[in-house]
Amino acid sequence: MSTFFRLPNRSMVAVFFLFSLSSTFLYFIYVAPGIATTYLFMVQAQGIMIRENMRTIGAQMLEQVVRGTYARRNNSTNDTDYPFDYNHNETVLQTTTFLPDDFTYLPNHVCPEKLPSMKGPIDVNMSEARMEDIQQLFSKDFIKLGGHWKPSDCIPRWKVAILIPFRNRHEHLPVLFKHLIPMLQRQRLQFAFYVIEQTGNKPFNRAMLFNVGFIEAMKDLDWDCMIFHDVDHIPENDRNYYGCGEMPRHFAAKLDKYMYLLPYAEFFGGVSGLTVEQYRKINGFPNAFWGWGGEDDDLWNRVKYAGYSVTRPARDLGKYKSIPHHHRGEVQFLGRYSLLRKSKERQSLDGLNNLNYFPNITFSALYKNITVDLTPELALIRDY
Ligand SMILES: *[C@@H]1O[C@H](CO)[C@@H](O)[C@H](O)[C@H]1NC(C)=O
Ligand SMILES: *[C@@H]1O[C@H](CO)[C@@H](O)[C@H](O)[C@H]1NC(C)=O
Ligand SMILES: *[C@@H]1O[C@H](CO)[C@@H](O)[C@H](O)[C@H]1NC(C)=O
Ligand SMILES: *[C@@H]1O[C@H](CO)[C@@H](O)[C@H](O)[C@H]1NC(C)=O
Ligand SMILES: *[C@@H]1O[C@H](CO)[C@@H](O)[C@H](O)[C@H]1NC(C)=O
Ligand SMILES: *[C@@H]1O[C@H](CO)[C@@H](O)[C@H](O)[C@H]1NC(C)=O
Ligand SMILES: *[C@@H]1O[C@H](CO)[C@@H](O)[C@H](O)[C@H]1NC(C)=O
Repeated sequence: MSTFFRLPNRSMVAVFFLFSLSSTFLYFIYVAPGIATTYLFMVQAQGIMIRENMRTIGAQMLEQVVRGTYARRNNSTNDTDYPFDYNHNETVLQTTTFLPDDFTYLPNHVCPEKLPSMKGPIDVNMSEARMEDIQQLFSKDFIKLGGHWKPSDCIPRWKVAILIPFRNRHEHLPVLFKHLIPMLQRQRLQFAFYVIEQTGNKPFNRAMLFNVGFIEAMKDLDWDCMIFHDVDHIPENDRNYYGCGEMPRHFAAKLDKYMYLLPYAEFFGGVSGLTVEQYRKINGFPNAFWGWGGEDDDLWNRVKYAGYSVTRPARDLGKYKSIPHHHRGEVQFLGRYSLLRKSKERQSLDGLNNLNYFPNITFSALYKNITVDLTPELALIRDY
């Protein structure tokens, strides 16, 4: 809790985090000032299965509150852009704008964005699966080495590189592919997967792995859209369209581990997407975040400082299930708050433009494996 009380916190009025496992009640109350930023959550978790990993969930929620307070500096954002919709009615809202089943498109036409094949909720099956079985499952789908696929019945609207930072999670990859590949095929996107694996003994650097993946992916093909995808996030709705847009997009708006609530308005973690142009303009991710936490908040800042705003899928389209795990020995990055205070100053100094690395590259049936050993010396930064 000590981090917590050191917050320079004009904004945090009170946080009560009461946990009562015996009564299976979770009260989560968070009050911030300002009309738009005042939330009062009272989540009564009586009906929610309290799993054995309740402790982890609690720690993660607290972590998000703390990060949110930091992200909520000054005036860069507008909470009202992302209202919580408690009372959505999916049946009414979802069906209307999608194309009818008998809609036809042509090989020389750009694929529609809201195809009839996109039915909505996906049956998520988190059971472990063997990579060989998943490869077998897609072996008849004309997926080329490295996981390249494109539709043949229309011209893909976006060429999408899916970047997956990786360490020590081999059992998650097949589960992710099993769900993502059919979804992307139904969305008629051209795609390939890049798994960027960190070796060596430095803390996990998710952001730097994305920068490496970006540069490597662009050597393959003239991609126009980058999806930054955690390996343990499984989309629950195939209408969560993985194309890019005018503005950077945050796909993972509603995570089961946060009880399907956006933990704070500036939350940009899990799965996000930027066009190649947007990613270059913001100088990519920062390279200086060693250990988990904070790099996604810095990306949010970069996007804002470049004059973009962030869009999210409406209603329940942005729901994800996360494969349970316990950060398996990965350390938190405690230096993140001081870096986040200097987001603006660091943006032009640290990112795509100061990055060096020496990858080992191999091909698998469903992805390209880019293995790198990362150290701070590979991304030196001038004083600021
Ligand atoms: C914004 O942040 C600066 C320093 O980062 C601080 O001096 C200023 O008071 C803040 N403004 C508001 C409205 O919080
Ligand atoms: C806050 O917003 C105002 C007007 O929207 C702008 O002039 C000012 O520079 C912003 N401050 C910061 C620290 O972003
Ligand atoms: C915040 O959102 C409200 C409602 O959508 C809008 O009227 C207002 O202009 C927005 N403010 C900023 C700074 O974007
Ligand atoms: C959603 O709206 C439809 C049509 O108005 C209605 O029949 C249905 O009961 C509503 N569902 C919920 C969960 O409110
Ligand atoms: C879930 O996946 C596992 C492993 O691939 C498989 O054996 C099982 O039949 C699947 N369950 C359902 C309900 O599809
Ligand atoms: C990637 O390749 C390295 C060898 O360069 C191998 O040790 C590692 O297991 C591979 N990772 C994945 C996810 O395939
Ligand atoms: C790349 O492969 C070489 C030869 O097998 C090995 O010595 C080196 O450590 C590998 N580098 C990484 C980053 O895995």
